[in-house]
Amino acid sequence: MSTSKKNAVSESEISVHWREEGSFIPSQAFIAQANLRDAAIFDRFSADHFPDCFTEYAELLHWERRWDQVLDTSNPPFWRWFTGGVLNASYNCIDRHLATLRNKAALHFVPEDEDEPVVHLTYQDLYVRVNELAAYLRFDLGLRKGDRVTLHLPMIPELPITMLACARLGLIHSQVFSGFSAKAVAERATDSQSRVLITADAYRRSGKLYDHKARADEAVELAAQMGHLIEQVLIWQRYPGHASSASPMVPGRDRVLGDELRAYRGRRVAPEPMEATDPLFLMYTSGTTGKPKGCQHSTGGYLAYAAGTARAVLDLQPQDVYWCMADIGWITGHSYIVYGPLALGASVVLFEGLPSHPDAGRPWRIARDLGVSIFYTSPTAIRALRRGGSDQPEKYDYSFKLMGTVGEPIEPEVWRWYFETVGKGQAVIIDTWWQTETGGVLTSTLPAIHPAKPGSTGPALPGIYPLLLDEQGREIPERSGRAANLCIRNPWPGIMQCIWNDPERFVDTYYGRFCRDRKSTDWRDWPYMAGDAATQDADGYIRILGRIDDVINVAGHRIGSKEIESAALTAPEVAEAAVVAVADPVKGRVPELYVSLKPGEQGSAALVARIGQIVIHEIGKIASPRHVWIVPDMPKTRSGKIMRRVLVALSEGRDPGDISTLANAEVVEEIRKLMG
Ligand code: WT7
Repeated sequence: MSTSKKNAVSESEISVHWREEGSFIPSQAFIAQANLRDAAIFDRFSADHFPDCFTEYAELLHWERRWDQVLDTSNPPFWRWFTGGVLNASYNCIDRHLATLRNKAALHFVPEDEDEPVVHLTYQDLYVRVNELAAYLRFDLGLRKGDRVTLHLPMIPELPITMLACARLGLIHSQVFSGFSAKAVAERATDSQSRVLITADAYRRSGKLYDHKARADEAVELAAQMGHLIEQVLIWQRYPGHASSASPMVPGRDRVLGDELRAYRGRRVAPEPMEATDPLFLMYTSGTTGKPKGCQHSTGGYLAYAAGTARAVLDLQPQDVYWCMADIGWITGHSYIVYGPLALGASVVLFEGLPSHPDAGRPWRIARDLGVSIFYTSPTAIRALRRGGSDQPEKYDYSFKLMGTVGEPIEPEVWRWYFETVGKGQAVIIDTWWQTETGGVLTSTLPAIHPAKPGSTGPALPGIYPLLLDEQGREIPERSGRAANLCIRNPWPGIMQCIWNDPERFVDTYYGRFCRDRKSTDWRDWPYMAGDAATQDADGYIRILGRIDDVINVAGHRIGSKEIESAALTAPEVAEAAVVAVADPVKGRVPELYVSLKPGEQGSAALVARIGQIVIHEIGKIASPRHVWIVPDMPKTRSGKIMRRVLVALSEGRDPGDISTLANAEVVEEIRKLMG
């Protein structure tokens, strides 16, 4: 796959990735029970059947009124799915299940503190609580369809309850990840013009009870400085009846929801009839500029896609207990903790805390005690659990049928640990690629149909037609193994509708580069650009090489940083590895490698040399890191992503800039010291 062209090679063309691995075939037992066992779905979703094929997903929902048109493409790229259709997301996730599933657990809430009991909420409980809150929001606060409401809620049952109460009324919720700062809340509330902020007084994380309400006070103040008034702050108490925050209540502005809702016991609100194309929520995500983008998702298309893919990819079934360890503050949690699974009537685990607290056995105790059968998490979490206790899973008696991963490429080394140790060699693994913008999974194996291949996400899902374009917008031949910009040819129901209040940025960011003709009203001229580089193997599987900007260009050779990291991880001492591209006067960029070691391992010059040798051995001299830095820990965001920008600055001897968003800012100074 090496590209030794004389002409300039594009940034997205990466010469090497980790090498092709063997494939893993699902067991007969898994296939026998799966929702989808027949590849005929790909015929039903063939290009000839686009867009009508997606009615198969829409029919998983209850519609007050059936749609007139499956897809209206008259104003590209503002696709409108299921126009004329009327439905309500809260009705679909709750009310319609009551007849058959009233007593089934909708949510199993697991507090971080192991001494606190697990809280089980049935669909009936959810119905009662969502209605009471919806009644309050409507009749006390006067909120109306289309109003935006900003949420800054931690992982407590009140988060999905609040989302669903908003959805019931047609309010557009905008949940900001609870680990984000007051400034992030203020910016998002201002951008979306939310006059109400719903938060919690506290939450538990790493054994501590955090004062969360204080951040709401700061957010209101910062928003005011931005010229926006947050009129009302509604507060869920982490321990109902007890104030866990030291920050005083502001009369007139702050209200404790537990107290307010007393007057609303037993109240019910009819679900607001929503057009399929009415927005359901906003999810802000970072772009290339400093200003976060408010990704606007629709009611009908989004919910149909979340439900359809949860059924197809996660294989959710009535008897499953399903645990997605992501935070609901990210799109993964919106689509695959709340909307997709609840639309299907699933039982969902909601975990408040840090998976490695108080020890790396915690997730496996939860899995054992709740009988979890489906588990979904990120490579970062898998690496952290491996690092903290690679021998832990075997100590616990649990059994997964399916395990998923999402968010970043997973190194084959880590994939195999996930498979062999966490999955005990029995669970099927899916590697799901998608984005905040896409609403749901776009590439993954269908677990009972395709073999899994470590390091490869899999083929495109039914009805999704990927396209690899080079820098000039030329199509790369299918299945050629050449790296290029990953695009999707066709619209699909889960695609975001717009960037809130910024249609121009929406068009420019996702369609600007490869649109063939901006005046064209033919959807075929408007491929969606994902911003990732990828290759397609001979078998049609898509490998994600990472964001275009993660690519390292060493002396004209493109190397995926993940490849070097994967090699480093084969050293038995290494727990985590991160590669950064560092400016070099001769080679343009060279990789530098940061590694942290497993507990009990010691760094040494010999180990540094050996890791360097492993990289050369696994990939070639071109990938040899200029330095291997053994560090006590990686600088990480609160969501666990390694901040490569900080590592690049350290390597280049520059000021790392603002490190206030790091979960472990102190490590920056420690690394600087050891670099001498
Ligand atoms: C970016 C999107 C989708 C929810 C979580 C992240 C990367 C996502 C994979 C995967 C390799 C992946 C891509 C993508 N990504 N899934 N399975 N393999 N990379 O959502 O924050 O919007 O990030 O995450 O680079 O563009 P997000």
